Amino acid sequence: MCGIVGFSGVRPAAPVLLDGLKKLEYRGYDSAGIAIMGDAGISVNKVTGRIANLCEKTHDGADVPGFTGVGHTRWATHGAPTEENAHPHLSNDGRFAIVHNGIIENYIALREELIKDGFTFQSETDTEVIVHLLEKYYKGNVRDALIKTTNRLRGSYALGVICTEQPEKIFAVRESSPLIIGVGVEENYFASDVTALVAYTRNAIYMDDGEYAELTKDAVKVFDCTGSEIKKEVTRITWDVQAAEKGGYEHFMLKEIMEQPAAIKATIAPRLKDGNIFFEEFDISADELKKIRKIVITACGSAYYAGCSGKYALEKLCHIPVEVELASELRYSDPLIDKHTLLIVISQSGETADTIAAMKECKERGAKTLAIVNVVGSSIAKLADYTLYTWAGPEIAVATTKGFTTQLAVLYLLALSFAEKLECITEEEYTKYMGELHTLPRHIQQAIDMNSKIPKLAKKYHKSSSLFFIGRNTDYAVALEGALKMKEISYLHAEAYAAGELKHGTIALIEDHQPVVALCCNPSIMEKTLSNIVEVKARGAEVLALTFRNNQKILSTADDFLFIPNVDAVFSAAIEIIPLQLLAYYVAKENGCDIDKPKNLAKSVTVE
Ligand code: G6P
Repeated sequence: MCGIVGFSGVRPAAPVLLDGLKKLEYRGYDSAGIAIMGDAGISVNKVTGRIANLCEKTHDGADVPGFTGVGHTRWATHGAPTEENAHPHLSNDGRFAIVHNGIIENYIALREELIKDGFTFQSETDTEVIVHLLEKYYKGNVRDALIKTTNRLRGSYALGVICTEQPEKIFAVRESSPLIIGVGVEENYFASDVTALVAYTRNAIYMDDGEYAELTKDAVKVFDCTGSEIKKEVTRITWDVQAAEKGGYEHFMLKEIMEQPAAIKATIAPRLKDGNIFFEEFDISADELKKIRKIVITACGSAYYAGCSGKYALEKLCHIPVEVELASELRYSDPLIDKHTLLIVISQSGETADTIAAMKECKERGAKTLAIVNVVGSSIAKLADYTLYTWAGPEIAVATTKGFTTQLAVLYLLALSFAEKLECITEEEYTKYMGELHTLPRHIQQAIDMNSKIPKLAKKYHKSSSLFFIGRNTDYAVALEGALKMKEISYLHAEAYAAGELKHGTIALIEDHQPVVALCCNPSIMEKTLSNIVEVKARGAEVLALTFRNNQKILSTADDFLFIPNVDAVFSAAIEIIPLQLLAYYVAKENGCDIDKPKNLAKSVTVE
């Protein structure tokens, strides 16, 4: 969840590190620090809170001269977000400074051992054991010391290290946490994510687990765990600098909401050719598909809700049973999965620890794994048998928007392509759904344009102490994501309920002026949801309905409205969520919340 950066070059390191950390701040933002190799040894600066505080403390890096350094932005796991616990951590002899993203599971035993050896600890972190192990094992060769140190560690880590004995070098190691090397001219870098690198270079090397790197200003070398040098491919980064900037929007979240028509088009268009769906990365035959007895979708957070929504399209069009499981549950559930299961793993970052663990568990049981991922070269993309990328571009706001809708777009493509191969739908139906896919970007744009009243509605609803979201079927799946959006950025209590379940308990909570967001976008069950709207209104609720502009019955029953264009319910979830994203955004804005960096959250959850 934390972000790390490293730099070695001919210009001052600190400003480059601070700039990189700002780009990584979405990964964690409760404290930060940099270590710079100076003439008189390593100088460390740390702060609590945001990178802005670190910039202020160091005068944008001007106070810390030096051409080599490492930096860190933290999302606290072991120990509170204090300066002592912030990274970088120094060895007792001052020779090493390290930054770490991940978790060291056996740190308690290592800490006890190191204390017995005479080392003193300055922090409560799991990370600090690493720097003392480095000191313990250093006998004149940093690479050897790093290999010996990492051999003692259990858990996940991306490490950045500097050492006074080799002042021009930065060292990096990767095990189950993302780490990318940027190859520049007279300077080289590493970072947890390409967004920290794109301002400096487009040439990247994706490190794999168990690899060690040594970077100077003019050389990049990668080694395996025996210390032998290995050749790595340099990949061209396609994301541009503007994609990681706000581009005139007040928040990344709003920019990313507005980018959805383009992101969906970028995800769908290259896969539609001559009236057919074509996945160059996943060419499954009809015979292979027929052997699949069930599809299991696994993911966390919003990606899980994308799975819940996608299930309806997959089951309706391909007639294959679909189970959607939270990755954090699936991994410990002794799942009934075998070689006849297709496991679809959904993840924007491709680094979510629980999702990776669930995937490994299912792979061991023989499942074929298909990943839907946004970040190229991420751990999940590497682990999967097949990967379909969502071409959403970098998503910086912690609350996902375009990540979610592009995941749905890929699920829709899969559903229609499987249905056609399995001959589950007629030619007319196929043509109709192809048309829906083609027009999805336009419909999403319409859903943005039709809801200009949302800022006004937010002024009415932002003071509520809680909001209920209700719906049936796909509407219910979207309600779950809508409520999550509201919770995570506005901190209002928001809960989604299957509308038919209201009378089994929740209706007891409805009283005068209780806001209920009712999703009514599925004509086949509209009447049923309408009855639920009437029931909650009879108990005093204020109903904000999400529906079509010409839906007279709902228009004459509810109090306020959010609109989507008239679309088929099978692919409507990606459109329905748009007004709910905007509602959460404007409610959070009314409440003065830090929209892009909500409290206690991080975008990439690389710990269990
Ligand atoms: C975090 C993010 C969510 C995201 C979830 C899963 O909680 O804040 O927006 O849905 O992780 O992340 P993934 O990268 O696997 O999609």
